[in-house]
Amino acid sequence: DKGNHRHFMQKEIFEQPIVVAQTLRSYLQRLEGQIVLPIPEFDLSGIRRVTIVACGTSYYAGMVAKYWFEQFARVPVDIDVASEFRYRAPVMEPGGLMIVISQSGETADTLAALRHAKAEGQTIAAVVNVPTSTMAREADLLLPTHAGPEIGVASTKAFTCQLSVLAALAANLAKAKGRLSAEEERALVRHLAEAPAAINGALAYDEAIEAMAPLIAGARDVLYLGRGTDYPLALEGALKLKEISYIHAEGYAAGEMKHGPIALIDDAVPVIVIAPSGPLFEKTVSNMQEVQARGGKVVLISDYDGIEAAGEGCLATITMPKVHPLIAPIVYAVPVQLLAYHVAVAKGTDVDQPRNLAKSVTVE
Ligand code: F6R
Repeated sequence: DKGNHRHFMQKEIFEQPIVVAQTLRSYLQRLEGQIVLPIPEFDLSGIRRVTIVACGTSYYAGMVAKYWFEQFARVPVDIDVASEFRYRAPVMEPGGLMIVISQSGETADTLAALRHAKAEGQTIAAVVNVPTSTMAREADLLLPTHAGPEIGVASTKAFTCQLSVLAALAANLAKAKGRLSAEEERALVRHLAEAPAAINGALAYDEAIEAMAPLIAGARDVLYLGRGTDYPLALEGALKLKEISYIHAEGYAAGEMKHGPIALIDDAVPVIVIAPSGPLFEKTVSNMQEVQARGGKVVLISDYDGIEAAGEGCLATITMPKVHPLIAPIVYAVPVQLLAYHVAVAKGTDVDQPRNLAKSVTVE
């Protein structure tokens, strides 16, 4: 049932404050200021290396998580798309944790990677949305997302719930490694707990994004740029746009643009720049100015301070609430989803059932 929404995708985008809160509830003890996993007796202290494997949007959630695992727990992280993982003779030493991320829990490549790693003696953690799925059953440590059924083929609420669980897992691993003080843990709990309200703040920009969608709907190509954890979001933005609006889009690390894709820039290629204010802001803005100097039309997604500092001369701006960097990827996923959604609606495509795509990919 779509309720009063036009599409399941729209409904699922708008459910995010609730389902992220629901997901966080089973990982955060807010009063105690503690992060706990659903299997508290599971000992993570011996984990020396993390390998993340997933496909599509779930893979981009994993890319964001790599930053967190390395930053908080100082554990090295390998990440691969599942369809490549087994074919590169990955080195899997004792003490390795493999994290598979999957909405459906049935994606054939991800499941095959799970089985391969399990046979090699890795501990398997599964971040999955369908609790009865094959991956949920075969994992050693089940870390459910509580997004509820996701019907729209384009993944939205599963992504923000995956990020929520992965942030909690990274913090938990940091704790198990003795790298998180009680005070730091309380601060992380506080920041994560702010995510649902911040997502609500992001959703308030829906109508403004709808109004700017026609600016993008006529484009043949669109570029998305981001740095740090906003780089995977740029990839996710491009994926979402391609799959439902059929516009060719690419996500790039902002600093990598001058190594090639800048040749594409002209006034017919909109460039979406994802840049919350913070330590990486200036660098990303200077990449954005390289685009503008070549006649490129920029849509800047930032917070009020960022828009104040760099919004002038942009084709359009999208203002997000000011949030802690930890939850920025969770919050900035929303405008990226809404933009793809409204562009697709403006083009009149079948948003919930895009051509050639299946909700669950059970062939390798
Ligand atoms: C993108 C999308 C796909 C899935 C991918 C993995 O919107 O829906 O890229 O993310 O097929 O699916 P799961 O997460 O079920 O393993």
